[in-house]
Amino acid sequence: MKVFTTIVEIQNYLKSNHPKTVGFVPTMGALHEGHIALIMKSIAENELTVCSIFVNPTQFNNLDDLKKYPRTLEQDCEILQDAGCDVVFAPSAEEMYPTLPSLKIDFGYLEHIMEGKFRPGHFNGVGIVVAKLFNIVKPTKAYFGQKDVQQVAVINRLITDLSFDLKMVVCDTIREKDGLAMSSRNRRLSPEARGHATKIFQSMIIGQKLLLEGYSTFVVKNKVLDFYKENPQFKLEYYEIADFETLESIDELNPKRRTAIIVAAHLDGVRLIDNYIF
Ligand code: PAF
Repeated sequence: MKVFTTIVEIQNYLKSNHPKTVGFVPTMGALHEGHIALIMKSIAENELTVCSIFVNPTQFNNLDDLKKYPRTLEQDCEILQDAGCDVVFAPSAEEMYPTLPSLKIDFGYLEHIMEGKFRPGHFNGVGIVVAKLFNIVKPTKAYFGQKDVQQVAVINRLITDLSFDLKMVVCDTIREKDGLAMSSRNRRLSPEARGHATKIFQSMIIGQKLLLEGYSTFVVKNKVLDFYKENPQFKLEYYEIADFETLESIDELNPKRRTAIIVAAHLDGVRLIDNYIF
């Protein structure tokens, strides 16, 4: 496995090897089984797989969150080597941003709901770094996790609006046995908080059950708010019930369309997000 830290190095390597297909898995490191599932899918579908590891400062709206984001490059490289990844791209912030980008990407409606609303500037940072990485790696296919459902929508727009010549592949969320979605942030939870963390998944299952019983989203949200009040370890940021395709809030379940329950909550000072699609 090759590890590159500069744009010139990885581009020279890719040019001289000219693989027929390149699968790309962009990450911020602290890899878990969810990332490995993306890597394995990429390996199965492409001649060469590139994984980037870059904690992108421009997508953090909270400096403390950026500082505390886990960084485990050595361990990540071991995991990637074992998984059979071909190339790791782990640039420094200076390499990616010799000057801070002046470009601003506005994803319209998606900026004003959920992650867009609670993390101002987040998707601008995601959009810019992903566009840069696509230009550097020039992948045939790029792999993303369904856990970041709104990020998936944003990157879909980025690919369409900027005509990136690649296919986006979205992979299912991988969960711990108790339902907690795998996330790099989980390792920051204390053992006690980790015990509570499964309740995020439970709150989505409760919501799904009530919706299928015919309750309106208004009633369901109120019942779920009560659930979170009974579990004061959590500071709920939002609990949305939306159409899966548009991510717009819905009032009632439409049996002809897929529904997404989307949650963001703080637990033990760690911000966790998850979603459940049915
Ligand atoms: O999902 C992530 O880890 C990040 O948002 C991404 C796509 C690697 C961009 O920094």
